[in-house]
Amino acid sequence: MNIPFVDLKAQYSRIKDEIDAKISEVVSNADFIMGQNVEKFEKEFAQFCNAKFCSGVSSGTSALHLALKAAGIKQGDEVITVANTFIATTEAISQVGATIKFVDCDPVTYTIDVKQIEKAITSKTKAILPVHLYGQCADVKAIREIANKHNLLIIEDAAQAHGAEHHGKRVPVGDIACFSFYPGKNLGAYGDAGAVVTNNEKIAELVNAYRNHGRLPGEKYEHSLEGYNERIDALQAAILSIKLKYLCSWNNMRRKNAVLYNELLADVKEIVTPIESSFNKHIYHLYVIRILDKNREKIMEALKKQGIATQIHYPIPLHEQKAYKHLNIIKGAFPISEQYAKQIISLPMFPEMTEEQIHYVCEKLKEALKE
Ligand SMILES: Cc1ncc(COP(=O)(O)O)c(C=O)c1O
Repeated sequence: MNIPFVDLKAQYSRIKDEIDAKISEVVSNADFIMGQNVEKFEKEFAQFCNAKFCSGVSSGTSALHLALKAAGIKQGDEVITVANTFIATTEAISQVGATIKFVDCDPVTYTIDVKQIEKAITSKTKAILPVHLYGQCADVKAIREIANKHNLLIIEDAAQAHGAEHHGKRVPVGDIACFSFYPGKNLGAYGDAGAVVTNNEKIAELVNAYRNHGRLPGEKYEHSLEGYNERIDALQAAILSIKLKYLCSWNNMRRKNAVLYNELLADVKEIVTPIESSFNKHIYHLYVIRILDKNREKIMEALKKQGIATQIHYPIPLHEQKAYKHLNIIKGAFPISEQYAKQIISLPMFPEMTEEQIHYVCEKLKEALKE
């Protein structure tokens, strides 16, 4: 059997007619920059998120950048985030000239360890940037108490959390949520795209301006602000409108797959399977296990030989990346992130996975662990 890590072709084949017709319509109308397809998707995605405003932008990285910029975060400010995330989270902090302040992750959920946030707060801290890692929300309710006490914004990296819930509420659960529609995400475009979702009108207006060369409504070659070209592509917005109709069912299919994985791997002592917090609805963008006391690379190699693709999200915690050498963070500073980076494996996870495929992955994983 050959099991890819994600199967975007399987998804496309099920919605091909709708997608092809839409692409043809957009191209025929030469409706490429902003316009009705962008407005339509923004309205629909805001509604999906139960939020007032959605601004389509060019990627998840742009969403983070523009959210921080619109929040007025700048040089001299500090932003607290977690060490075990993708570098886009922290690139955005550097892009606005602010300083990254890392904390470790929680040993059970792998999201930011709320108990460590307060220690990292200084008079320069302006925001907390939790990452809803793998499709599960960070404990934003607890983060809110800290944020309120210190007058900080909560800017969420929701790149992996389209439709994830926290205490019964869909993301955004902080002040500003930053989504990625990178092709492999739960809601993925056919290229790069992202969105900033918020209930804060001022932030939404500023993101709309900054993404489009600083133009305020009604301005064309007049610029009250200097901005960027970080708009969402209209073709991607049109594609996302179609795919959004299926997002809930795709998320439920992922959840069903995770339940089956959990059942089949329940008695395997050499690994730890994902834990869904009682107050969260995990949408399993990734299904990440930890391998205890076994050579991870050998296990991945054995699975590859059996046709099973796996990945690691992420092999090097950010504070150990060469790009962040200048932060002078010593080895051992964030022991959970450091230890888990050596143990984690992401198993294949996509809505269209069959029960047979999941059984096969689990069977081959158990065999590899015995070797
Ligand atoms: C946690 C996280 N943050 C940010 C991003 C950046 O999104 P994009 O690739 O759309 O720029 C990603 C996606 O790769 C991500 O997984």
